[in-house]
Amino acid sequence: MYLGRIISSCLVLSFTITTTFNNVMVSAQDSNVNPHYAALLNNSMWFYEAQRSGKLPSDNRVSWRHDSGLQDGQDHNVDLTGGYYDAGDYLKFTLPLAHSLSLISWGGIEWYDGYTKANQTKALQSTIRWGTDWLIKAHPDANTLYVQVGSGEVDNNYWGPDTGIPTPRPSYAINNTATGTDVAAMTAAALASASYLFGNLGNDTNYASSLSNAAMSVFALAETAPFQVYTNSVPAADNLYQTNNYTSQLVYGALWLYKATGNTTYRDKASQYYDRFNLANVPVSPMDWSDPTGAVHILGAELDSSNTKYATAAKKWLDTMTNPSSASNAPCFFTKGGLLWCDGYSDSNSMVPLQDTSFLALVYSRLDSSKSQQYTDFATKQINYMLGDNYMLTPYVCGVHMNSPHNPHHAGASGGTDIGNIDTSPPEELHLLYGAIVGGPNKDDIFYDERNDWTQTEVALDYNAPFQGLVAYQISTNAADPPYVTITSPRPNVSRSHGLAGWLIAVIVIVILFLLAGACYYAWLKRQALKRRFGNGGGQQGYAVPV
Ligand SMILES: *[C@@H]1O[C@H](CO)[C@@H](O)[C@H](O)[C@H]1NC(C)=O
Ligand SMILES: *[C@@H]1O[C@H](CO)[C@@H](O)[C@H](O)[C@H]1NC(C)=O
Ligand SMILES: *[C@@H]1O[C@H](CO)[C@@H](O)[C@H](O)[C@H]1NC(C)=O
Ligand SMILES: *[C@@H]1O[C@H](CO)[C@@H](O)[C@H](O)[C@H]1NC(C)=O
Ligand SMILES: *[C@@H]1O[C@H](CO)[C@@H](O)[C@H](O)[C@H]1NC(C)=O
Ligand SMILES: *[C@@H]1O[C@H](CO)[C@@H](O)[C@H](O)[C@H]1NC(C)=O
Repeated sequence: MYLGRIISSCLVLSFTITTTFNNVMVSAQDSNVNPHYAALLNNSMWFYEAQRSGKLPSDNRVSWRHDSGLQDGQDHNVDLTGGYYDAGDYLKFTLPLAHSLSLISWGGIEWYDGYTKANQTKALQSTIRWGTDWLIKAHPDANTLYVQVGSGEVDNNYWGPDTGIPTPRPSYAINNTATGTDVAAMTAAALASASYLFGNLGNDTNYASSLSNAAMSVFALAETAPFQVYTNSVPAADNLYQTNNYTSQLVYGALWLYKATGNTTYRDKASQYYDRFNLANVPVSPMDWSDPTGAVHILGAELDSSNTKYATAAKKWLDTMTNPSSASNAPCFFTKGGLLWCDGYSDSNSMVPLQDTSFLALVYSRLDSSKSQQYTDFATKQINYMLGDNYMLTPYVCGVHMNSPHNPHHAGASGGTDIGNIDTSPPEELHLLYGAIVGGPNKDDIFYDERNDWTQTEVALDYNAPFQGLVAYQISTNAADPPYVTITSPRPNVSRSHGLAGWLIAVIVIVILFLLAGACYYAWLKRQALKRRFGNGGGQQGYAVPV
């Protein structure tokens, strides 16, 4: 009798353990969902949770994060608490946030069923809402949009936890005289795309209409003359988040407003700006937070399909980007390992161009069956590269595999406080930054995983934004397991400063010393010769000739 009870309790216990384990690992509603992609989607939103500023809610899952930035905006008597920290630091920027939110919403709209299958629709909404609530606060009246909180100079001299964020944290705004066309139009795009998602998929029509009202208002600010980039008005953002132009942002914002409101005025404005700025014919360049030109071709083709100029430009853009060898002036190429590499873009975050391009390729593949195979093949290869099918055997996502990056450049997660020793203090990251995409490998497909090398290990809001859509796509289409699942070998050891590199440096130093000695001897000979010709007075001139 007792034995029977013991056995049955054991059965219950083991059942409980198994279910708990499955919940943690999978948490999927639909038993057909790929558990690895479901976990990636959950982890990516966990990363956004780790970036939250302001008063954290009681369901905060990131134990090492605290309430922070609670005075933000007080310098102008506005409430700018909340929102997201931009990267591994504690600055808040409207432009890259808005870009990221628009991509998260777009991916959510496109592959909502992926989120549904993974039981992540509520998480998607709270991820977006934490950002859009802040954008609404940042636009406190029709003529103002706050674009930055915190000063680059103050913040970049701090490395430590969220409990010691340095002050002052000044806030900066554009307005109807000191305009910022790019940032206001991008903010409109974020609010409008989120409005569509909440209203049409999330069943929250009240919030959707607050969002679309704010979007229309901030778009009117974007359309206020003079048109100019916001860093003209807010030099504090120079060299941090500076765009080259405002033209594609106006089209992007207007297209999303058309999607959100159905008001054809916005569709027509988009089309007019597209023509006025000749966007169909600007040279192809990668799409990122600084320039949504690639995105407007594809979004225009999707939302205003009878206007075929968008589809024509979309195909040209995608063919050039995804098949560089077919185009005469392609800005990108494939590395030996197969990674899409765009000089000037990939150097400081190689995971971004591949993701943004794949995202747009997948959206367009649904619109044009004649291009579908080509674009989905491209995207699948790039996603697989990113998730382990690469020379380093590394998924460039933290916390999902033993070969995942271990040293994201993130002050809070690192646990360090010594800005002079970011790499070594502490030697191992204190907190796993689950789901964060890092900058990625270099042009030779090599990744060093060094915390201080921000080009490879920095994380940022805009790195994970396309990722959300790519993962939702993989879930939606029942893709096979991500490549890292079958990787059992450790990442190849590619230490930068030992062995080969050491003797190479020695050889280079010796060669330079020889050359210097040679040059000095030559100079001396010349000087002697000049002395012989001009006497001592020519010495001055003699120095200038050979050296
Ligand atoms: C989501 O990811 C976090 C971090 O890996 C993990 O702690 C949590 O259990 C996961 N939640 C679900 C529902 O999968
Ligand atoms: C779905 O997620 C919610 C949290 O958003 C959770 O409460 C619920 O238990 C999950 N359902 C399943 C079946 O995992
Ligand atoms: C607009 O912004 C500029 C630059 O920040 C500022 O100098 C000016 O006072 C602002 N104008 C108004 C009306 O707030
Ligand atoms: C949408 O919300 C309404 C009102 O809250 C509710 O009655 C309805 O069941 C919801 N629909 C869905 C699909 O969740
Ligand atoms: C459409 O938007 C324009 C620009 O904001 C506005 O003037 C017009 O009243 C709107 N039309 C409708 C039907 O709401
Ligand atoms: C921005 O675009 C406008 C319109 O095409 C153009 O006149 C201007 O030269 C561009 N500015 C820069 C900095 O490229």
